[in-house]
Amino acid sequence: MNNFDFHNPTRIVFGEGKIAQLDALVPSNARVMVLFGGESARSTGTLGEVTAALGKRDIHEFSDIEPNPSFETLMRAVTRVRDEKIDFLLAVGGGSVIDGTKFVAAAALFEGDEWDILLQGGGNIDKALPFGAVLTLPATGSEMNQGAVVTRKSLKTKLPFRSQHVFPKFSILDPTKTFTLPPRQVANGVVDAFVHVMEQYLTYPAQAPVQDRFSEGLLQTLIEIGPQCLAEPENYQVRASLMWTATMALNGLIGSGVPQDWATHMLGHELTALHNLDHAQTLAIVLPSMLRERKAAKQAKLVQYAERVWNMTEGSAEQKADAAIDKTQAFFESMGVKTHLADYQLGEEHIDELIDGLKKNGMNKLGENGDVTPDMCRRVLQRSL
Ligand code: NZQ
Ligand code: ZN
Repeated sequence: MNNFDFHNPTRIVFGEGKIAQLDALVPSNARVMVLFGGESARSTGTLGEVTAALGKRDIHEFSDIEPNPSFETLMRAVTRVRDEKIDFLLAVGGGSVIDGTKFVAAAALFEGDEWDILLQGGGNIDKALPFGAVLTLPATGSEMNQGAVVTRKSLKTKLPFRSQHVFPKFSILDPTKTFTLPPRQVANGVVDAFVHVMEQYLTYPAQAPVQDRFSEGLLQTLIEIGPQCLAEPENYQVRASLMWTATMALNGLIGSGVPQDWATHMLGHELTALHNLDHAQTLAIVLPSMLRERKAAKQAKLVQYAERVWNMTEGSAEQKADAAIDKTQAFFESMGVKTHLADYQLGEEHIDELIDGLKKNGMNKLGENGDVTPDMCRRVLQRSL
């Protein structure tokens, strides 16, 4: 196991009806900006519940944070936060709204060109406004971590940043708030959480049995509940498990003390930046091919994954690795998330531009061994045609 320093300060308030606790969670004299996306927060009634819970506080609203939130939109929020002297932010939505709120929280107090936050991966953030979240889409883990991803539309660039200053103060996780999700977003959430675990688990053995077994438990839970989430949209217990699994998949716990990969995510970001695919769709396209391309380096962990997650007992190490990758791809397809570029009307002719995007963003040595080059990523995309 590697050395690590694990500190997660986010309070999780979990369960039906917990939005009412906002009154106790948000400072009573706060000037609050509530940030949300398109229509869903209002039409599902969640926004109304939130404003009712905030009571007599001075409330300002900022809507229209789009999926894969853009720098351009978020800078409009930053201007309003500064002009209206907002001192507390509240995100109501999925990963895009929470990520966007993290950026606004840091950018509002940032001195200098706010795009530098992304260019330096958040290393230049030394303070941020406090904020909380009401989660409506279990997927990204943003509700309990210090990362976010922002797209600058004018540059067709999607970049991540992280900072200890952008952990949410609290996140409210009410599983009933997910009942209104369309099947596509539920499936996206299952796939995204699954790939988050894989990025931290499927590397090489690091003598970290606790992290391994936590990860295997999360993966098996997703395999078990994924289809139930689609079949029974209002099954509270199933949605509760999905919510907690997705949070646990990326709150720093399973990634402590182990090598991490993240090449699938970085290549996936290029697909979203250039072709506007959903985040989870990009992962479903890239992960199976990424594992096939890097099968030799990942063989020990692939065999462990095959045996412990998919209960495979037959065959050679290589056969188990192959079969486990096939199972992974079939699982994504069974959730309705397509795994080939052609499924999204993309082909060989789009690959050059995607690889150029990676290079432009300095993504030249990805993966747990730093050996995932743009050339290797090209082969990964060719496998996904
Ligand atoms: O815009 P509205 O109308 O609100 O609709 C949203 C949106 O269109 C809808 N939705 C959300 N909750 C709903 C609902 N519809 C009905 N009922 C509800 N309860 O869902 C759509 C997608 O929402 P979005 O927030 O974009 O999805 P997701 O949570 O998957 O977030 C994706 C973003 O998170 C980033 C991704 O790159 C992407 O930009 N990620 C953030 C991470 C992090 N902070 O750690 C890690 C991830 O790897 C990921 O990169
Ligand atoms: Zn993700």
